[in-house]
Amino acid sequence: MAKRILVTGGTGYIGSHTVVELQNSGYEVVIIDNLSNSNIDIVDSIEKVSGIRPAFERIDCLDYPALDALFTKYTNIEAIIHFAASKAVGESVEKPLLYYRNNLVSLINLLELMPKYAIKGIVFSSSCTVYGQPDELPVTEKAPIKKAESPYGNTKQINEEIIQDTIKSGAPIQAILLRYFNPIGAHPTALLGELPNGVPQNLVPYLTQTAIGIREKLSVFGDDYNTPDGSCIRDFINVVDLAKAHVVAIDRILENKQKEKVEVFNIGTGRGLSVLELIHAFEAATGVKLSYQIVGRRAGDIEQVWADPEYANKELDWKAETSIEETLRSAWEWQLKLRERGIQ
Ligand code: WQD
Repeated sequence: MAKRILVTGGTGYIGSHTVVELQNSGYEVVIIDNLSNSNIDIVDSIEKVSGIRPAFERIDCLDYPALDALFTKYTNIEAIIHFAASKAVGESVEKPLLYYRNNLVSLINLLELMPKYAIKGIVFSSSCTVYGQPDELPVTEKAPIKKAESPYGNTKQINEEIIQDTIKSGAPIQAILLRYFNPIGAHPTALLGELPNGVPQNLVPYLTQTAIGIREKLSVFGDDYNTPDGSCIRDFINVVDLAKAHVVAIDRILENKQKEKVEVFNIGTGRGLSVLELIHAFEAATGVKLSYQIVGRRAGDIEQVWADPEYANKELDWKAETSIEETLRSAWEWQLKLRERGIQ
């Protein structure tokens, strides 16, 4: 009997890629999503990629009674991967209460219900944003947590503390916190990818929309940073490599391999790439010339961050393997497919 996993936010960018990798590993998946930042067609796309249609329920994690009923309908859920959250840094500054309510209460509801339904563990979608601008690079899991630069980043920090405190209080559950760096790219089938609502906030979707002509020019937010070419540096990780890290984390919980009841891992490539280097890598990988301009810095951006992934590599026996060129090609193929389908 396949083990059943609940994926909240499973029709989202990282969530949908993770559902496919869970299915590829033999897990049965139940998706819940309120579709506030994704759409139901993603369930069809997941089925096209994996050949298996996941169960789907349109549920908001803020809706405690609906969540309670879900666990009665889908019994024997062994573990949860919790993606569902608001995640736009800029929007969180304008609407902090929406972010605090959505991102904190959703998690609290799940943690309260897990013991009631004997759900063993939770894999939480955290972020390198908890480190702020690290004092030392590459950044390890031992780096100090810095004051968040945005309510979004603060909710990630508070979520991690809520999980730590809940388990410290004796709750019969376990957790693995995955601190992502910058997820980019799309599934190699070009049937799944990033589908931002409206004007993309993140670099790569804005870049591919510029390359295909939806946007006139990509603005590079600053080239006067203290970096080799003046633009910010990030650790861009392929979304499928990131998805696979979640499957490894679920395996680790269900196979009782955890060494602590709460474990934290940096999920990055260990390679820092600047914004300008990424632009040039895109042009080289796709042969597509990109129109861009240097403009002023974006408020809240940190200068440079990339992971030391050694702990995850060794402890999880997981490594980001996809090259930046292949990843950027996958993002471009996805953008072309969206145009072919008349979606963007
Ligand atoms: C990357 C770099 C920008 C757009 C955030 C969150 C992180 C995660 C990913 C959710 C920066 C520059 C961007 C553009 C640009 N969120 N840029 N022109 O801010 O590193 O991370 O999104 O999972 O938790 O913090 O990602 O892609 O917005 O920016 O020059 O049009 O690209 O200044 O240096 P970021 P990003």
